[in-house]
Amino acid sequence: MLIKKCVILFSGTGSNLENLLKNKHLHDGQLKYISAFTNNPKAKGIDICKLFSLEVTISSCKDPNLDLQIFLKNHNPDLIVLSGYMKILPDYIIKEYKGKIINIHPSLLPKYPGLNTYEKVIDNKDKEHGITIHFVTEELDGGPIILQGQFELCKELNKDRLKFLTHQLEYELFPKVILWFANELIKLESDKVFFKNKEITSPMIYLTNIESL
Ligand code: GAR
Repeated sequence: MLIKKCVILFSGTGSNLENLLKNKHLHDGQLKYISAFTNNPKAKGIDICKLFSLEVTISSCKDPNLDLQIFLKNHNPDLIVLSGYMKILPDYIIKEYKGKIINIHPSLLPKYPGLNTYEKVIDNKDKEHGITIHFVTEELDGGPIILQGQFELCKELNKDRLKFLTHQLEYELFPKVILWFANELIKLESDKVFFKNKEITSPMIYLTNIESL
């Protein structure tokens, strides 16, 4: 098996980026992070890339898609990881790299696509919350789900606490999905997710509780 080339796209803090880089040994010899791209010259994630000696391309255009297209052409990745990348990818990029783009989102999709997830969970007094990791299609925060992580909200939490717990779950599950991709355990075919060559007809859900996050 050839070593898969993976690039990471981010826009802000980069805590998931950092966590992925800390866990890169999990797929040594199978998948390598070769470069990163951000649309935000002020993103804290840039320093994380430097810390891990990962080359990073910083786009400062209003429309970073041109830079992104060139970046992707130059690196020809087998996997594009959206790790808090807050720009919507244009259809021509999604079409060209279909089945090779994975996104993480801090809600139980299809609930709460887009922004301000934590506020919505709190305002609606939701009884459960979680995260979704999915292949990217043209639909915003849509696309076939690979894995969801879920926990019960037995007491009211403030936004910071909810965000903290959600991130802990993201840190636990995102590297696992990347490892699955590295080992060719997951794939997208005809807009359907296959795990070990079996179609997933309803999302795999990892149930956990607040105490263990
Ligand atoms: C993460 O919680 C990720 O799920 C979310 O942005 C955050 C980035 O945090 N992504 C989206 O909302 C995508 N629609 P980080 O920069 O600390 O990893």
